[in-house]
Amino acid sequence: MCVPQKVFITGTAGFIGFHLARLLLAEGYSVHGFDGMTDYYDVRLKQRRHQHLLQSTSFAATEAMLEDHERMDEAIDAFQPDIIIHLAAQAGVRYSIENPRAYINSNVVGTFNIMEAARRNGVAHLLMASTSSVYGANEDMPFTETEKADTPLTIYAATKKANEAMAHSYAHLWNLPTTMFRFFTVYGPWGRPDLALYKFVDAILDGRSIDVYNHGDMYRDFTYVDDLVRAIRLLIDAAPRRPASPADIGEGDSLSPVAPFRIVNIGNNDKVRLLDFIEAIEDELGIKAKRNYMDMQPGDVPATWADASLLERLTGYRPQTSYREGVRNFIGWYRDYAGK
Ligand SMILES: NC(=O)c1ccc[n+]([C@@H]2O[C@H](COP(=O)([O-])OP(=O)(O)OC[C@H]3O[C@@H](n4cnc5c(N)ncnc54)[C@H](O)[C@@H]3O)[C@@H](O)[C@H]2O)c1
Repeated sequence: MCVPQKVFITGTAGFIGFHLARLLLAEGYSVHGFDGMTDYYDVRLKQRRHQHLLQSTSFAATEAMLEDHERMDEAIDAFQPDIIIHLAAQAGVRYSIENPRAYINSNVVGTFNIMEAARRNGVAHLLMASTSSVYGANEDMPFTETEKADTPLTIYAATKKANEAMAHSYAHLWNLPTTMFRFFTVYGPWGRPDLALYKFVDAILDGRSIDVYNHGDMYRDFTYVDDLVRAIRLLIDAAPRRPASPADIGEGDSLSPVAPFRIVNIGNNDKVRLLDFIEAIEDELGIKAKRNYMDMQPGDVPATWADASLLERLTGYRPQTSYREGVRNFIGWYRDYAGK
């Protein structure tokens, strides 16, 4: 097997980028991280993640914004990566209603800068994060990559959908092998403070009430972060190739007919009721949550559920951590991290 040695990862101070860098370093890759340490949530958590990675001599990082294409080009040209994995983004569904401009700058301009650098450096494979939010108002579940996803409900989803379209054009024009992942509600240790699990555990331990949207009638395909980064690791080796004829595109494959470009769901292939998820947290903490039942939030969707069969066909891998096990691992980490 030809193992690519050098991987440039954006968003390494972030939740998923941190876990991915850790996995790839453990597997012997040399990793260069890139992160702007934005203050969307507690920067100390980001610094702690980077400090952890910097314990490896195979890791170095550039602290700069994606919009700063000169700093980015410098870092990429100097490192000469075989692979680029672009995870840095302004994330979050709800914040995109308050501050849409941050999404245009980070996700549209920033992703364009990464694509340009990838093209100039002729990387073997460009892999980038999209989101299940691009399925928007789709109701047919589980969501498959080949179905239309033309009804984004937030500017966050719209910027990620734009990234998919931008990446397809670059893959086509420059024969740049590109994989876009659609992630589904990722959770686990070192997780994001703006996401439900962190907020719930933090509030329950402090005796504060938790906001339960849509009166609890919500379903999510929760994906444990170790499963997710294992899937990304395996997809590195599954670079798409431009098909010579339509017969090269397998049943259910999202491979473009005109470009080395593919979209892959990374989800748990299951949906969990929000109330069951909360119950798992309560059981693990041994505390009942004070629940504040609320209406659905603007831009939110009642359910997500991934068809992850394409991932399995491409890599032989299927995410497998149960949500109870994942919640237990998160709480173990959180108690230690927050000293609660
Ligand atoms: N966590 C999830 O459930 C989830 C679900 C779907 C998609 N995603 C996508 O996965 C990727 C990683 O998400 P995450 O959960 O690790 O988020 P995160 O916010 O923890 O990490 C993103 C990192 O990118 C950095 N960043 C943001 N804007 C930047 C900019 N303009 N320039 C430089 N750095 C910048 C931040 O400082 C942060 O460290 C994102 O693209 C996100 O949209 C995440």
